[in-house]
Parts: sequence; structure tokens; C-alpha cells
Amino acid sequence: MPAVACSAQRVPYSRIRELAEIAMSMDGEVFRLYFGESNLPTPAFIKDAAAKALAGGYTYYTANAGLPSLRRAIAEQYGRLQDVALDPDSEIVVTASGVQALNVGIRTALDPGDEALILTPAWPNGSAIVQMSNAVPVHLAQPLIGDRYEIDFDALERAVTPRTRLLVYTSPSNPLGWVATEDDQDRLLAFARKHDLWLLADEVYDRLYYEAESIGIAAPSILRKATRDDAVMVVHSFSKSYCMTGWRVGYLVARKDLARKAAELNEFIISHAASFAQKAAETAIAEGEPELAEMLARLRSNRDYCLAALKSAPGVTSPRPEGAFYLFPRIHGLRDSFAFCKRLLEETRVGIAPGVAFGAGGEGSVRICYAAERAILEPAMDRLAAFLEKFDPNE
Ligand SMILES: Cc1ncc(COP(=O)(O)O)c(C=O)c1O
Repeated sequence: MPAVACSAQRVPYSRIRELAEIAMSMDGEVFRLYFGESNLPTPAFIKDAAAKALAGGYTYYTANAGLPSLRRAIAEQYGRLQDVALDPDSEIVVTASGVQALNVGIRTALDPGDEALILTPAWPNGSAIVQMSNAVPVHLAQPLIGDRYEIDFDALERAVTPRTRLLVYTSPSNPLGWVATEDDQDRLLAFARKHDLWLLADEVYDRLYYEAESIGIAAPSILRKATRDDAVMVVHSFSKSYCMTGWRVGYLVARKDLARKAAELNEFIISHAASFAQKAAETAIAEGEPELAEMLARLRSNRDYCLAALKSAPGVTSPRPEGAFYLFPRIHGLRDSFAFCKRLLEETRVGIAPGVAFGAGGEGSVRICYAAERAILEPAMDRLAAFLEKFDPNE
């Protein structure tokens, strides 16, 4: 009997999904804070735009790089939010989600046996996609110094080998909520240039940023620093900014040669994102700012609520996130975050993600997604705080 390929077997299953599957098998209500999404529906004007697009004939194949009108809208938005001029014809590839942008971007940069440096704790998909490309992920944990995560540039230097081809980081970070400073960006770019690496910035949470002078200002993109000739690619998604997780629309911005090849490879992966979903994404860009501003105000207040709820929990350190919608509290003495989350789920029906799912530096912490409504968040945080009160890591 033929076996499943070793290269496929080597790719580990997501431990976030593993926890979620236990939760989904339980009868009755579970407070679901384990996935990166809120329970709010996609805004009605976006759903209406999809219905209109279906009625208007957006039911056929599009270009592999996506509808030209959507790429123009993305370029226009990049100019407005980041003051970066992009060529919609050659530097933007629309994808069927952020994860597909990661997939095609990584696949286009790596040969089998190459190594990719990945700043962790990080959402596990980047690492898994490197493995699916028959390449090797090398995790570099971001140290928590005081109450801020940093980048260990000395460790990065030590990790470079002749096979290193790519450096992946996420800003705003899932799960840390950390946002790269200008100095971090300068140093990451200089490091990538010095070692001839592709630099992949996952910026899917760029709109969920709380530190700007006013709400709605995007976290600064690495593209403000890089030239269009740099070996840089940036992953984006409509999932988080517009409550469109189920729609599967994202995009990749990259140097022209990589963008062209990524669009060509799209043909063999998924061909393109669904035509009517692309059209709806165009409407999200055009009309989405007021709802986004409302969501951001709500998320910022949820963040502060959750931080306050954990403040008096014994042995818990929870750095204040600057972006995204996660807290990543460290629980002192915790050695098995999966067992912790499973017990929490079974005893209190609160589902959160185990830190071990996020690679090096993740064990000992848990991830709480605070995008849910208060009616879910408040009882869930009460139960978590009460559980932590009684939790003994040495038990
Ligand atoms: C860091 C990061 N990148 C990419 C994605 C992909 O999002 P999607 O595939 O829904 O566009 C996610 C989703 O959770 C994420 O957290």
C-alpha cells in the first residue's frame, strides 16, 4: 500500500486546531477565544456588494493576479495609508486569503533544503508552509525584555548559514501584539540586505493598531523603508480588518519578478480568489473606514478590559499589546500550555490557544483573542481569572 509522503507527514498539525476540535466536540456553549476572529458578522454593505457582484456576472475566472480594479483599489489604499506608491499591474497579487499569500510567497522564494528564519512566537502557518516547501524553518524567539518583546539580532546573525534564504516576521504580531519599531524595521532590512535574504513581513493586522495619534491609522509598513527593488514581500488579508475571515481574500505585495512568478504559480494552486469575493473586497476598501473605526475603538477597549482582568491574577505577566487582537500572558511555572488549555476548557468551557502552538518561546504562555463581544469576553475572563487564582503549576 502506498504511504502518505514523508514530506507531508513531517508537517505538524496545528495545535490551535487540535484544541479547537476538542471544544467543537463538546455539547453546549463554549466561550471561543481560541481562533483569530470575532463573532461579529461581515458588515452588511460588503455582503450586499457580493450579492450585487453575483447578479452582475462576477461568476467567471479572473486573472491569476486578481481583478485589475481590485489591484488598483489596493494600490490607491496603500498610497493613502502608507504613502507608498505601488504599481497595481506588477507589484500586487490578489490571493485567496492571507494564508495563501504566505503560501505562494514562501513557495516562490525557497528551494528544497533552504532555511527560513522565523521570528517566534508566531502563528504556526508560516513555519508549516516552509516545511511544505521542503525547506527548513529555524525559529528565533523574541525575548521579553521588561514589558516589551524585542528582536535578538545577535541570535539572528548566529543562525545564518549558507542555506538561509528567507526571514519571516509578523507585525503587528500574532500572538504577541508586538509592533516593529522604525529601528527594528531598519535593522531587519539591513540584516536581509547584508545576507542576501528575502524579507517577508506578515502585515495582515496592519489596520488593528492602537498606538497611532488617531484611530484608523495603519501600523507603518516595511514598504515605507524598502525600495521597490529590495527583496521584500508583504502579506495582507481582508479577514481581520473587515470581519471577512470566511471569504478568503488577501494579497501579496512583492518585487516585480517574484510577484510575476507568484501570479503564475497561483494558476496551479487556486488560479485566483473567488471573483465575487474580490468585488466585495473592493467595496470593503471603498466604504469600510467608518465600521473599521468603530471596531478598533471596541477592540482597544476589549484589550484594556482583558489586561485589567488579568492584572491581579497571581504569577501572570501580560505585556500590553500595541496591535492585532490578542493577549499573550505568560504564566509563571507553566510547563504544558496545551494541558492547561484543555483543563481550562473542560472545567470552565473557556477555549483559548496554547502558547506551545506558536513555536520557540511560546510554551509557558497562552493566547487569548479579545475580538469577541463583551457578552462572551466578560464571563470568559472572569472564569479564566478564577481558574488562574487556583492554578498550581507544580500540581
Ligand atoms: C499572522 C497571520 N497571518 C496570516 C493570517 C491569515 O489570515 P487569512 O488566511 O484569514 O487571510 C492570519 C490569520 O489568523 C494570521 O494570524
